[in-house]
Amino acid sequence: MNTKFKMLEDVLKIRQLIGNTPLIQLVENQSYNLFAKLEYNNFSGSIKDRAANNILFQGINDGKINPETTIVESSSGNLGISMALHCNRLGLDFIVVVDPHISKINLKLLKLFATKVIMVDKPDDTGGYLLTRIETVKHIIETNENCFWTNQYQNENNFKGYRDMSHEINQNFTRLDYLFVATSSCGTITGLSKFVKQYFPGVTVVAVDIKGSLIFSDEKHKRLISGLGAGQKACFLEKASVDDVMILNHQEIITGCRAMLREHSIFAGGSSGACYYAARKYLDQLAPTYPIPNCLIICPDKGVPYIDNIYSEQWSDRVIKSELPAVVEDRQPVSEI
Ligand SMILES: Cc1ncc(COP(=O)(O)O)c(C=O)c1O
Repeated sequence: MNTKFKMLEDVLKIRQLIGNTPLIQLVENQSYNLFAKLEYNNFSGSIKDRAANNILFQGINDGKINPETTIVESSSGNLGISMALHCNRLGLDFIVVVDPHISKINLKLLKLFATKVIMVDKPDDTGGYLLTRIETVKHIIETNENCFWTNQYQNENNFKGYRDMSHEINQNFTRLDYLFVATSSCGTITGLSKFVKQYFPGVTVVAVDIKGSLIFSDEKHKRLISGLGAGQKACFLEKASVDDVMILNHQEIITGCRAMLREHSIFAGGSSGACYYAARKYLDQLAPTYPIPNCLIICPDKGVPYIDNIYSEQWSDRVIKSELPAVVEDRQPVSEI
């Protein structure tokens, strides 16, 4: 078998461990049915497996990735972790560029899984590290042969990786009325809003973001919860079909996470809690309609990496009391992207 087909076959073998994630019902009342799709049941533990798998598949198929290629990405979170585990299975080297805002647990995981972790240490002109990380990635690909930058903010194969998930949602529902999706690189919202609307044209897609993120607002300030929010807009966001946006503060996100744990024993990450909080708030305000609307939230990752912040009483109390993250001196903002 030729090398390219062997590599594609290997990516598809990993794909068998991605998707068909569980769907559970969280709320059934006279006004709405609320369901959650548990994306932390994927190969590397997050929804990002869908994007990473598709980016690598298309890169190989287009002849941009061969067995000698080094994969490069700037990521402090789930995309980096997914890419590292994919590359390890495929026998590809993976260099990940991170900055001092990375959480301790993700740094440990990336050091364990990736070929090389490069920590940038010079803030850029904006005071963050985003531009320095991008410059570092560009330097690596310009000065080394046969490198491929997966580039989650620019690569359309990110959002196209959510096509299968939309088929799954179509199989799960006969009717879908509301869909709540957290945003960061915007791959999920762009893919799901585009593809799910092909099955359910009437669905209202609500983007859920964190205060201080620059995706839907120009008001920049520190964000202390990783996973959702971004310091830049993905270039493909214009292809998304978003009907409404909810921007939550830290307190609301913490409340959503704790409520899901207490009420449903779902131990999920910040963006899942954000979607749960946003959905309850949004749906509780709707006038009752018949048939009762079916609503879905997406849960991208598990609660474990958030054990020392969202699920720590001490940390949460301080953030909630202040709700001005700048006064939390001994914590760095988690992420600038
Ligand atoms: C924790 C978390 N929340 C939200 C998302 C959705 O992000 P994106 O907009 O990058 O698809 C992701 C994607 O990986 C995630 O890991």
